[in-house]
Amino acid sequence: MYMKKLLFFVCTMLTWLCTDATAKTLVVYYSYTGNCREIVTTLTSQIQADVLEIQPAEKGLKYEANGYALGTQLLNAIKANPNDASSYPAIDPVTTSLSDYQTIIIVTPLWWSQMAANMQTYLFNYGGQMAGKNVGLIVSSASSGISGVVADCKRLVPDGKYFSENLWINHSNHSNRATLIQAWLTDINYHTVTGINETKATTTAPSRIYDLGGRLLVEEPSKGLYIKNGKKFIR
Ligand SMILES: Cc1cc2nc3c(=O)[nH]c(=O)nc-3n(C[C@H](O)[C@H](O)[C@H](O)COP(=O)(O)O)c2cc1C
Repeated sequence: MYMKKLLFFVCTMLTWLCTDATAKTLVVYYSYTGNCREIVTTLTSQIQADVLEIQPAEKGLKYEANGYALGTQLLNAIKANPNDASSYPAIDPVTTSLSDYQTIIIVTPLWWSQMAANMQTYLFNYGGQMAGKNVGLIVSSASSGISGVVADCKRLVPDGKYFSENLWINHSNHSNRATLIQAWLTDINYHTVTGINETKATTTAPSRIYDLGGRLLVEEPSKGLYIKNGKKFIR
């Protein structure tokens, strides 16, 4: 019995040592009318990830008004001078540090067959920091195909390690997004590529809590170091 506990303890310690602390996923999204937000909610019900929402600095803008005049104007400005920071609309400051993440999943609307301008601003500022990281792209459009958005993403995140496929969700299959996302995660080998084996539990198994000596505890200690479901906690 003692040997069994000792073995468990040693295995847990080895898992800690071998686990890359940055093997985490960040889902970064922008959403104007809510579809990308719903996609992110569905996605994060299937994988463990932190979420960052990009917000335009100027609130209350109507990108679709007057025949999509503002949306068009923003994209034309970027197209005319894609290397100039002043071509991109201002967004709220972002404090999330990308160094905490090895995988970034970008969820963005398509605007005039391009990446929505506010997401382009974020990637213009931070895409360089995604070099060597796993990069996934999910695009929501009414009906247009996403090749222009993929091209924008590759321009703004040139050195990302892209997953083998991008995911396109349009208005006719948006309600089926849970299935589409699940199939995409399987197709891109998400858990193998990211090294994140943790899937979101659909049922909650009872927690097993141990002290550092490998002894099973009846409850979480109020102070100190302990192991719960194979993870280290400090109080
Ligand atoms: C300025 C603007 C331009 C758009 N251009 C297109 C387009 O060219 N083709 C298309 O299929 N959908 C287009 N759409 C629709 C959005 O891509 C679609 O509604 C998407 O689901 C929006 O995502 P969101 O709800 O997260 O903002 C456009 C929307 C806006 C606001």
